[in-house]
Amino acid sequence: MSNESNTTTVSPLISPLHGSTGVPGDKSISHRAVLFAAMAEGTSRLSGVLDSDDVRSSLKAVKQLGAQISLEKTPDGSLAGGITGWGAKGPVQPDGPIDCGNSGTTARLLMGVLAPWDISVEITGDESLQRRPMRRITAPLMKMGVRFEPEGRETLPLTETGTRDLRAITYDAPMASAQLKTAVLLAGMYAKGTTTLNEPSPSRNHTELMLPEFGISTTAADRTASVQGPGVPQGCEVRVPGDPSSAAFLVCAAVMKPGSSIQVENVSLNTARIGFTRTLERMGADVNVRHAGSAGKEPYGIISACYTPNLHGCEVPADKIATIVDEVPVLALVAAHARGVTVFREVSELRVKETDRLAAVVEGLGLLGVDAWVDGNDLYVEGQPDLSVPAGVVFDSKNDHRLAMTWALVGLCGNAPVEVANFDSVKISYPQFLSDIEGLAR
Ligand code: S3P
Repeated sequence: MSNESNTTTVSPLISPLHGSTGVPGDKSISHRAVLFAAMAEGTSRLSGVLDSDDVRSSLKAVKQLGAQISLEKTPDGSLAGGITGWGAKGPVQPDGPIDCGNSGTTARLLMGVLAPWDISVEITGDESLQRRPMRRITAPLMKMGVRFEPEGRETLPLTETGTRDLRAITYDAPMASAQLKTAVLLAGMYAKGTTTLNEPSPSRNHTELMLPEFGISTTAADRTASVQGPGVPQGCEVRVPGDPSSAAFLVCAAVMKPGSSIQVENVSLNTARIGFTRTLERMGADVNVRHAGSAGKEPYGIISACYTPNLHGCEVPADKIATIVDEVPVLALVAAHARGVTVFREVSELRVKETDRLAAVVEGLGLLGVDAWVDGNDLYVEGQPDLSVPAGVVFDSKNDHRLAMTWALVGLCGNAPVEVANFDSVKISYPQFLSDIEGLAR
């Protein structure tokens, strides 16, 4: 790998991927562990927490609000230690805006965290985050009694003023979004009565699984989750398993790189997160999942994957998209190597991620001569089993970590080097991505 003027050259791996590796802590679970511990009474003990820019945005935010943090870097690169929360007395008024950087999860969950307190906090973020829709969160929170200013504004920066007098609500979410679900449940924890969130298809359920560890009872069933308030979370112990969304890049690399056979260990096997293994199976890929234990209520285990020639296209139905929402770009790259057409149904949510990932996938695959197109809200990829990487391809990551890793895989697993502009956005979720994958190819 070489790096000049923000463009990184990624060259083909010298040998197939072999052996076992872990991946850094799950980003979604790490954010929740940090935020819930900050809201809790007493000290929580956290381990396996992802050390990445996004999680650091959550850590910085709760520190500004008065939580005491004593997390240290451990030899495996994760963060571990204590967070003492503000508990029943609530957060302090921060002395300036809270800048959530690139992290949508920090900004949106924080809106739920702040809802029950009568302080006014300006929430902002980087250029990408300032373009992302916030109405989906502010609308239900306003129904609960929270105010956002300027009124009617749909994007950050926004100033939130909470209330100790929150109303419990039942809310039908217009889209499957765990960020929206979590913001409403966190606010609902402090409202008198039952707050319920119904969603059109199941989104990741880490919040419903983790809140009971903090002594807050939740009920959850297919496409609905509730919390009974009022209650104050109590400090507890949280162990964060490896991130399946990071593992997906290694697994897809093994499927595409001839001769490969790998195992990713200690990775979350939450079914709302490992839809990519099912999509790869649908394409005929040799991928297996083995349960090893549970961290709290989160299952974890081993995902193994082997190089698979003769992949074929498949259809991913709309109600499964939430389980692969962050993996669609890399799965689209695998689909580009499969015989026939793959269709991902109803993927409009990808338009409002860190960048417009639908447009970016179509553009990036186009550079490889692969036909990919969007019809309505469906993404189509027409694969080429003998896909060969043209010389001199330059991908634009658009400062989006998942796109940076997707396009890097073209160079790592293909026949020619590629360049990836702003590759260092990988530090948002998986800072050691390149060294992990190169370690498997040694
Ligand atoms: C996340 C939920 C997903 C996902 C994001 C993390 C979370 O977003 O894309 O990377 O931690 O709750 P949505 O809930 O908006 O789909």
